[in-house]
Amino acid sequence: MALAERVVCGSLVRKSCVNLSSRSDFGNGLNLGCDQFLVNSTRGVRRRGGCSRRNGRLSAGVVAAISEDLVRAVVSEKAVTFKVRAVVTVRNKNKEDMKETLAKHLDNFAEKFGRNVGLQLVSTEVDPKTQKAKKTKEVVITDWFKKANARAERVNYTAEFAVDSNFGVPGSILVANKHQKEFFLESITIEGFAWGPVHFPCNSWVQSQRDHPDKRIFFSNKPYLPHETPAGLKTLREEELKDLRGDGTGERKLCDRIYDYDVYNDLGNPDKGIKYARPSLGGENIPYPRRCRTGRPPTDTDMNAESRVEKPLPIYVPRDEQFEESKRETFLFGRLKGVLHNLLPQLMASISTKNNDFQSFSDIDKFYKEGLILKFKIQDELLNKIPLPKAVVKESSEGLLKYDLPMILSKDKFAWLRDDEFARQIIAGVNPVSIERLQRFPPVSSLDPEIYGHQESALKEEHLLPHLHGMSVQRALEEDRLFIVDYHDAFLPFLDRINAQDGHKSYATRTIFFLTNLGTLKPIAIELSLPSTGPNSRSKRVITPPSDATNFWVWQLAKAHVCSNDAGAHQLLHHWLRTHACLEPFIIAAHRQLSVMHPIYKLLDPHMRYTLEINGLARQILISNEGVIESCFTPGRYHMEISAAAYKNNWRFDMEGLPADLIRRGMAVPDSTQPYGLRIVMEDYPYAADGLLIWSAIENWVKTYVKRYYPNSSIIKKDTELQAWYSESINVGHADLRNAPWWPKLNTPEDLSSILTTFIWLGSAMHAALNFGQYPYGGYIPNRPPLMRRLIPEESDPEYTNFLADPQKYFLSALPGMLQACKYMAVVDILSTHSPDEEYLGERQQPSTWTGDAEMIEAFFSFSADIRRVESEIERRNLNPTLKNRCGAGVLPYELLAPSSEPGVTCRGVPNSTTI
Ligand SMILES: [Fe+2]
Repeated sequence: MALAERVVCGSLVRKSCVNLSSRSDFGNGLNLGCDQFLVNSTRGVRRRGGCSRRNGRLSAGVVAAISEDLVRAVVSEKAVTFKVRAVVTVRNKNKEDMKETLAKHLDNFAEKFGRNVGLQLVSTEVDPKTQKAKKTKEVVITDWFKKANARAERVNYTAEFAVDSNFGVPGSILVANKHQKEFFLESITIEGFAWGPVHFPCNSWVQSQRDHPDKRIFFSNKPYLPHETPAGLKTLREEELKDLRGDGTGERKLCDRIYDYDVYNDLGNPDKGIKYARPSLGGENIPYPRRCRTGRPPTDTDMNAESRVEKPLPIYVPRDEQFEESKRETFLFGRLKGVLHNLLPQLMASISTKNNDFQSFSDIDKFYKEGLILKFKIQDELLNKIPLPKAVVKESSEGLLKYDLPMILSKDKFAWLRDDEFARQIIAGVNPVSIERLQRFPPVSSLDPEIYGHQESALKEEHLLPHLHGMSVQRALEEDRLFIVDYHDAFLPFLDRINAQDGHKSYATRTIFFLTNLGTLKPIAIELSLPSTGPNSRSKRVITPPSDATNFWVWQLAKAHVCSNDAGAHQLLHHWLRTHACLEPFIIAAHRQLSVMHPIYKLLDPHMRYTLEINGLARQILISNEGVIESCFTPGRYHMEISAAAYKNNWRFDMEGLPADLIRRGMAVPDSTQPYGLRIVMEDYPYAADGLLIWSAIENWVKTYVKRYYPNSSIIKKDTELQAWYSESINVGHADLRNAPWWPKLNTPEDLSSILTTFIWLGSAMHAALNFGQYPYGGYIPNRPPLMRRLIPEESDPEYTNFLADPQKYFLSALPGMLQACKYMAVVDILSTHSPDEEYLGERQQPSTWTGDAEMIEAFFSFSADIRRVESEIERRNLNPTLKNRCGAGVLPYELLAPSSEPGVTCRGVPNSTTI
């Protein structure tokens, strides 16, 4: 207890701050009078409620409780100096390359010559004489050299400050890295003040002063609204934000930490040829959200296109946004790069283009059982060590590529063929957000007839009547029994161009579903549309459930085309656009406008993790020209234009919250008597039912948090940082839609809670629902082909005879080729994987010190408990045999919104943010 034997004699307590005489543990205090000091001894460290203001902030005045070994207090008539200690936690890399190891050795050596890490403590108070913040002298970390060989992931270093008795509460630490090498500063804790340790959660890379001469500024965990910023921190708060904003010029270095905006003008590569040019997204012509600016020079052939950085070179994101090396770089993204660099060339060498079609369904099964023999051994060590895509097993001089069995095959190999499973996946699969309640029949198009011709649906009542259990269409509509997945308007404008590409064939589909008495859905009609070729063109065709062999295969092909539309819509309209791209501007704006000491920054912090990095990686290898999406999805090179059209025509931030989204799609109706103020029209809609549990937990947490800092609207209105964040998110980050009338206002605590709940929902639960089922459902290509290479033959087509002669062969030849399938499966496998350091909803780093507001730490633990209760409820639902969309023979449970998960491909787990 020697260290804990706190001495306030230490302990210097300004009388006006704490009435020690009223506290038994300070009962022996020696009262030195007003503006003098109490000298005392006590045991343990206590938070002094008596001198706390709201948020646990301490009022001015030194309260020092100092470990005995630190105490060398000098009490004089006027000034007293005592020592406090900084414990500096630095996180080491697991693996260093040669260059880094050398730099580390040099840095350790240079320590002897004064090239150290320096720390300076800054008070929340200003010196009345200078009107500048009170600062200690800079001290250095003294034991860096001693711990040079420490191999632990985290190493604690120490430094000691001499602090004057009138120093006040420490609010900031300035860090100077005079080494050559950057280091990851996880946290600093100052021990020695009477109110207990002062925590500085840092979680940031500190660059060498050679690269960034200014000292880094870190703030304690005390949240402050801008107008409450203590005088000593005001300038630093502004300086830090100014640094993060940059000046909008220059090419970014990888060690920079500047957040700025740009348009998507880096997807094409016009220097390689016109074929590789892609339109710039963002701006008047093609509206799109903004991305993180990198400032790379333009291409040689198009001044408006930014030159690309190709894999394996890293693309710029602010340094602290980069994936943590220790686990993610090796586990996930190393693998992704390994697949793209090593596996794909192998596949291309191993699969002959002549023999690219699957010849039978057992050819597909071989991927999981026997594996695909590759021409060469996989050389990449990473791939050999890492078990996924379970991929690569050495075998003599050849390699073998073997995939995990996707979950859709694990319980019922033939489930994918059944209509009820096709329909079940529309409400409980990887894309449960396209379905709408059919409110008028036949469905109508919103496309401009001047451009696209008259788009009257070919769906007639007679197509539906045989499947309505005796109901009329009108009655089925009135009783909320008809539903639709309508991709007509999203795809039709692009079909001419899509279908002109070799091996990419698409319809614009509409699928009508009937809700049975059991609560399951049944597909009852599929409308397939092609662009009109003239007044008498028969560009629309309706396929209904089969009653003979020929129609069975036509029906299967029609469902496959619906899945192909659905896979494209899922990836481009919902997953990428809504949960990746549209959040990026809010995140950039948060870093530029909200200080880390802003309570709303602290709330949002875990929900912004890794999103910029994964989006940058996506621009580099997934959504770019020749990227995975172009080659593996039906829209091919037009995929991002489809995404942009959806942004322009459909995306509305005010409709992104779950309740609003359900109501917009007619899947719920407002009902104030129900728990969430709405009634789901299809009771067993797993995404909606589980989603509302999570939505509600997030909403309660956010409301509690917002109420704590914004008891009334005037504080919201005068919060300059908050207003700047929201305004910039809209006016710069979503500049092309900035004039839309639907942007929610930010005037009241209720407005703020709604905006924040929506943001957190999108990055956590909605993204998880759309992301982690990609391999479990899509890893078996026939269940969910991302690409179709052939249309459905009609009797007059020359191919029709071949189709009749061997329908299975025709079906397989319409699916992606083997090479596309292998590539797609390898990539979605990785994209469906949780990394070992995943942080799930209800968890956060430094759970007890992320904020200095004890009340909000408690509230966060309540939120965590709510999330655990949601998990139990989801488990219970999955065991309920009356919920047939998630429980039954061979039916996969709906766990995509179950909050926790093990690492790997689990088809469950809700991370805090869009991390992959
Ligand atoms: Fe994702």
